[in-house]
Amino acid sequence: MTDAALKAQLEELRTTINEHNYRYHVLDQPSISDAEYDKLLNQLRAIETEHPEWITPDSPTQRAGAEPSPKFAKVTHPAPILSLGNAFDEADLRAWFERISRLDERVRKASFVAEPKLDGLSVVLHYKDGLFVQGATRGNGDVGEDVTANLRTLRKLPLRIPAAAGGPKPPADLFVRGEVFFFKKDFEALNKRQSESGERIYQTARNTAAGTLRQLDPSITASRALTFYVYNIIAAEGKIPATQWETLQYLQDLGFPTAPESVLCKDLEDVVAAYKQWEAGRDALPYEVDGMVVKLNDIGLYNDLGVVGKDPRGSIAYKFPALEVTTMLQDIGVNVGRTGVLTPYAMLEPVEIGGVIVKQATLHNFDFIAEKDIRIGDRVLVKRAGDVIPYVIGPVLTERKKGARKYKPPAVCPVCGQPVETVEDEVAWYCVNAACPEQIVRNVEHFVAVLDVVGMGEKIVAQLNAAGLVKDVADLFSLTREDLLSLEGFADKKADNLIASIEAARTRSLHQLIFALGIRGVGWVMASALSAKYRDLDEIAKASTQDIDDIEGIGPNIAETITDWFAQASNKAVLKKLKKAGVWPRSEPRKAPSGPQPFAGLTFVVTGTLPTFSRKDAGDFIEARGGKLAGSVSKKTSYLVVGEDAGSKLDKARELGVPTLDEDALKQLADQA
Ligand code: IVH
Repeated sequence: MTDAALKAQLEELRTTINEHNYRYHVLDQPSISDAEYDKLLNQLRAIETEHPEWITPDSPTQRAGAEPSPKFAKVTHPAPILSLGNAFDEADLRAWFERISRLDERVRKASFVAEPKLDGLSVVLHYKDGLFVQGATRGNGDVGEDVTANLRTLRKLPLRIPAAAGGPKPPADLFVRGEVFFFKKDFEALNKRQSESGERIYQTARNTAAGTLRQLDPSITASRALTFYVYNIIAAEGKIPATQWETLQYLQDLGFPTAPESVLCKDLEDVVAAYKQWEAGRDALPYEVDGMVVKLNDIGLYNDLGVVGKDPRGSIAYKFPALEVTTMLQDIGVNVGRTGVLTPYAMLEPVEIGGVIVKQATLHNFDFIAEKDIRIGDRVLVKRAGDVIPYVIGPVLTERKKGARKYKPPAVCPVCGQPVETVEDEVAWYCVNAACPEQIVRNVEHFVAVLDVVGMGEKIVAQLNAAGLVKDVADLFSLTREDLLSLEGFADKKADNLIASIEAARTRSLHQLIFALGIRGVGWVMASALSAKYRDLDEIAKASTQDIDDIEGIGPNIAETITDWFAQASNKAVLKKLKKAGVWPRSEPRKAPSGPQPFAGLTFVVTGTLPTFSRKDAGDFIEARGGKLAGSVSKKTSYLVVGEDAGSKLDKARELGVPTLDEDALKQLADQA
């Protein structure tokens, strides 16, 4: 290749990589996999190694991260926030060891610390005289974004150190670095909530963590269970430990959470052994990791070795094999869920991802297929993360073949053949036939799970349905011992136990029963709101859409779904049967608050940091005076109570013309009213 052609290629690589950096770090919407990104960066590095004279200070190889977003105030870090070089296999790791051993003989006898490489967002926390004063994202490595208010909402973050009496006295100024991320279970719970309320599903924990931390409204950050671990001291004014292993201990003593999996390795062979162990146990870890960070334990030696580009020589990221692979999309199938929602899934040419053979992966919903323009016959990028169901990220467009077919969602339910429907403002498609057998089974499964019917799993539900014994949830309560004994696999004891656990389910609360009915969009929280307003299912059945819409937290679409559900003949029949079977819990009326009720009939939303009230104080103050508290601003909001750093809620209030109050004005209003 001529120099001119090579240079053109270099320019193009830089432009492409910069665009991906922007998508990843600023928009939190990557369009390629990490592995593909690494490939581009390696190509660029290869050219730059051949032609070091072409390296410019703004080349993507010369920096970590992306420019801080103008949405946030900028924070200059006390020292550069460095990145890490990668090792993709044992040979890379050993080559790294040799390289640095040649630079400094001490490395040959050195010990290492192996830490999980957490897949989250790097942050720098500043403590002044033991107080948490500022927290920032890495940004471009020199300047980050001020996300202090959001970081304060992380429950594990110590606002003062030492967090416990008897801890060491911290340096007057201390900057620590850590990673903000989601535990797998919390990320799954977040997505479950999203899907229950018909909202978008988040794809990757890492980008959602980044998006959550970079919210303008801290209450959104607070509403999601972000967590973090710290792993380095960036700068300190005062004495700090001389080794990485002691640093981790010291940070713990100060009250910071650190990754419990970190280990001290006496030499490189120990590191190799630890890696093998971790890789095998990777799925069992409570969070996502993409590798192991290997650090020289001796911080003096580490510092002496210096930095290449933005990577310190004394540590390296030893990556696990990618959990993202590409494979061929052979066909698209459709599942029917308990609320009748149809979900497409990918039928894949079987492929190994991190030791597991994957044949199917979720495609989320039909809009997703259209948005990503996924076609049958495409090569698609698939990711598997821990125990989460594998999912399709998107097609590999460069490899699209001529014969790739566009996909059309089914017009009828693949199980019962009845026409499907869509709901305005929702991405889901539904089978609305209440008699659809697939739905019945799923619905009963959900019902018994919510009502805690011990011993009734998926298989038994399917058996009961196939035998014609359970056609709706109410049928469960008329099952007899004989019915059960007629099924395969049932002996006396098993039948008795199951009858006993069905009996026990008769007396669950109204709140539980509403949720168990599986009304589309009605999750645990909404079921609670309904059971607080209405005494029993009859009262809800009689309520108008407007009545239900008036409940804080329930919007007009769901209100309509609820009244529709209660109006449907098949559901009325189920309710009648439940009542007859004595499964008819009533909720206790809420205790009337005592004292004057100046805020009766008013709904408040609180945002930002108030001068003296905590969020809870403000809520208690409002509710004690008869006011209602809501989580988001709508036209039903009477007042928005605004503190410092108020974000999108304030914008929304202005847009809707909702009046705002500060803390003083709130107190005055209580006195006047
Ligand atoms: S040390 C200069 N330790 O991985 C040292 N980084 O690929 C670099 N990361 O930007 C940081 N877990 O965001 C370190 N235990 C750990 C880490 C970790 C995750 C992230 C960090 C860094 C990226 C580099």
